Order: sequence, then structure tokens, then C-alpha cells
Amino acid sequence: MDERPADQSRETAEAGPGGSLRTVPARAGGKAFVKSYGCQMNLYDSERMTEALALQGYAQTASIEDADLIVLNTCHIREKAAEKVYSELGRVRELKEERAAAGSSTLVAVVGCVAQAEGAEIIARAPVVDLVIGPQSYHRLPELIARAGHEKGGLVDTDFPDEDKFSRLPPRAPARGPTAFLTVQEGCDKFCTFCVVPYTRGMEYSRPVADIEREARTLIEGGVREITLLGQNVNAYHGEGPGGAAWSLAQLIRRLASIDGLARLRYTTSHPRDMSDDLIAAHAEEEKLMPYLHLPFQAGCDRILGAMNRKHTAQSYLNLVARIRAAQPQIALSTDIIVGFPGETDAEFEQTLALTEKVGFAQAYSFKYSARPGTPAAKLGEQVPDGIKSRRLARLQELLGAQQAAFNARCVGQTLPVLFEKPGRRPGQLVGRSPYLQAVHAEAAPAQLGRILPVEISACSSNSLAGVIRPL
Ligand code: SAH
Ligand code: SF4
Ligand code: F3S
Repeated sequence: MDERPADQSRETAEAGPGGSLRTVPARAGGKAFVKSYGCQMNLYDSERMTEALALQGYAQTASIEDADLIVLNTCHIREKAAEKVYSELGRVRELKEERAAAGSSTLVAVVGCVAQAEGAEIIARAPVVDLVIGPQSYHRLPELIARAGHEKGGLVDTDFPDEDKFSRLPPRAPARGPTAFLTVQEGCDKFCTFCVVPYTRGMEYSRPVADIEREARTLIEGGVREITLLGQNVNAYHGEGPGGAAWSLAQLIRRLASIDGLARLRYTTSHPRDMSDDLIAAHAEEEKLMPYLHLPFQAGCDRILGAMNRKHTAQSYLNLVARIRAAQPQIALSTDIIVGFPGETDAEFEQTLALTEKVGFAQAYSFKYSARPGTPAAKLGEQVPDGIKSRRLARLQELLGAQQAAFNARCVGQTLPVLFEKPGRRPGQLVGRSPYLQAVHAEAAPAQLGRILPVEISACSSNSLAGVIRPL
């Protein structure tokens, strides 16, 4: 079932019963350029699309100029992310015209969260676009490509279909490296007032355990040693277990950890409200679960957290961190923080700095609040001026940078197991990841790719480590 047909340019794919890929004619020889603009789930979706396109005869190309099919997988989370696609589409229009003058046609698809949020408006604003496909409909990409060939005008598919896209996608292709993403949960029912995800990705959905396990085994048989389970609210996972009852993320992790050949598991992104006791216990007990947790808190002031509809307080976050650290003292924490939410005062921002200080993060992502169309916070008065947001962000990033540098410095002198993933910048060097997700550079032969080796850390920079491989 996980086997991929030997002849990948044939016209069918194993898309499951009635799968939409079966009826699609091959476009052998075509080249597809697929670019991701978003989060890890967006990257995962790009991989699945690339794999589906390969079965339709499209070879992947890293060069947009050569592409017969251009797929832009977009992100709507902040204004900057959403606008990027329009500047790229300006370039794509020129390319398409040049190629047309030379006698080649180019198909342009905008997929992902901007596609979902803006639908047909995209084609109105950028008529170069032939296809607009939302994140829940991309399993129909091959079928829509075929239709786009003989229908005039752009096609838009932003439905939230009843069918589960995962069961309609072709099986995973053999992996290309030792690490892989695996989406287990999608969508979000939390409705934080600043966030577009519940609108672009839809309601929370968890994939059944059996489907996830099958995909994990395919990846592991293809050489993957580390899997990161993905979901916008991954720790709210409640997929159907083998007996029919819903399984928690902790149960899923324990099941996957029992697969021989898999060395490491991670998951992201978690909401503080869904950090259950069994998941915390898994961090204490499950050796393959890496001691790293991305746990966004967004703001340190309870009034702002209330206005964000975050459903946690600064103190409940601190209590949670204390419980997690009691269970797994080694754990490295990462977070997301927003500055300049509407109405945030200087004193309230200071509380974000204070909470950051109290927790101490190994890594973090911080953003200026960006008003998103259709979200409740965008309609609030008291939007914070951009200059103030920039100053707050700079102060916060200074603190976060110092915390990350201190965390990295504490690793110097330690010997950490490193999973080597790819060649480094310098010849003779490989780069891998520590258990705490730090990039680690070391002199190593290419044969060490995919292996986990002890590395004595001898130096650090603000965002990576370097060291020497020690004998096992
Ligand atoms: N599901 C995750 C994260 C989703 S989006 C969670 O609940 O935490 C990733 C991050 O983008 C968020 O954690 C938040 O920090 C940031 N973000 C989301 N909407 C934003 C907005 N309108 N402006 C600025 N940052 C935003
Ligand atoms: Fe967005 Fe909040 Fe859902 Fe995270 S929990 S995806 S921030 S609405
Ligand atoms: Fe962006 Fe959509 Fe991910 S809005 S962050 S690509 S879920």
C-alpha cells in the first residue's frame, strides 16, 4: 500500500477508493516549481503536493524560470507574509509572458492560506493566476490542473470538503533525508482574536492513528530517523485509535516510539491549555521524545491574554512550565510572543518581558501584532503605532537573544547526541541537530549522514553550536 508505482509518469496514482488522482492524464516531461511561504504544516503540504505531482509526470525544479507549473503555497498569518505572494506574482507574470513568447505555456497555482482567505480576489488582482486552491483541497490539485488546461478563466477551489484530504493523497514517497514532518492534526477551534488560522485551516481535525502509523512506517523504512508530528494545535490531538476510541497525543507518541528504526520524536505547535498530564509524563518516560517543547504564550499581561482569548494567564503558564520542568528537568523551551496587540500599554508590555525573564527560553519567535482581515482584534480601536511596536520588539528580541546565547553557552563542554542531516557550509563538515533542536556543525564524513553520534561541543554562536565527534 505504501509502495509507489515504479513508473511514476503513468496516469494514475494510488489515491484510495475513488481517489481524484485516478482520472488525471499524465503531463510527462513537465517541470513543477513549488514554493512554501508558511509554517511547517505549509512545508509538509508542499511536500505532499510535490509527491502527487511527481506521480502525474512533473519533475521537481528549483528554478522558477524552467517551470511549466508554478505552485505558490501561501501564508496569511501576518500582512507581510500575505503580501509576499503578490510581489512574487509580479515576477511570475513577466516569466509567463516571456515563456509564452517562446512558445511555452505556464500554469500558475496559488494554494494555501492566502488562497483560502482571498479566493477569487487573487485572480482579480493577479490575472496571471490560473488556479486558487485552499489548504483543505490541495489533494484535488492534479484534477484541477487537468481542468485548467481546457477551461477558460481561473479555477477556484476553497471548499472544506467532507472527504479527508489525507486519505485522498497518494502514499508518501520514500523520504529524502533523515528527518521528516508528519501532519497529525489540522485546524483550530481556539479562535485567538488575532489569528487567521481557524478561518484558513478550518475546524480542528485529527487524523486516525492507523493512518499516521502507516505514514510513519513508510518514512522510517525510507531512512527517516526523526519525525516531527505537526498540527496547529498538535497537543489537542484526539484521533481515532485502533479500538475506535479517541487517542491522545501522548498515546500516539508512545505508539510511534515503539517502531524500531525511529530514534527521535518531536511535536509542534502546542497550546498551553492542552498540555495534559499524560503528555507531560511522556516527556519524563519516553526516551525517544526529545526534551524540547514549543509552547507559545503570546503575552505576559492577563488583561491582554484575556483580550486575545488565550484561555490561560501568566501565572497558569508559569505553573505549567514548573510542572513540565519537574517531569523533565532537561527540557528546552521555545515560544511565540506578540508585541503591540491593540491597547497594549508600556506597562503591559513590561509584563511580557517579565514573564520571558522568569521562564528563560532556549529559543523563541517574536512578532509585531499584524491586524488580519476578519479577525476580532483587527476591529478593536487603540491599534498600537508601528514605531512603538518596533521598539518593543527590539527590546524583547534583545532579551530573547541573550537567553538563547546563554542556553547555547551552557552546552559548551557537554557531549550531545547529534543527528546528522545535511552537508555543512564548509567542505568536510556536516550539520545536525542536538536534542534541543540546536544546529550543530562538526567535521564528519558524508557516510555519517542519518546517524546519531556523540559530539563534544567546543564552541557556540548565537544560534548554533560546533563540536567534535567522540568515539561511540
Ligand atoms: N497554533 C499556534 C501558533 C499559530 S501561528 C499557537 O496557538 O500558538 C504562529 C504564531 O504566529 C503565533 O503563535 C503568534 O505568535 C503569531 N501570530 C499569529 N497571528 C498573528 C498576528 N495577527 N500578528 C502577529 N503575530 C501573529
Ligand atoms: Fe491561532 Fe490561537 Fe489557534 Fe494558535 S490557538 S492557531 S494562535 S487561534
Ligand atoms: Fe501561515 Fe497558514 Fe501556517 S496562515 S502559519 S501557512 S497555517
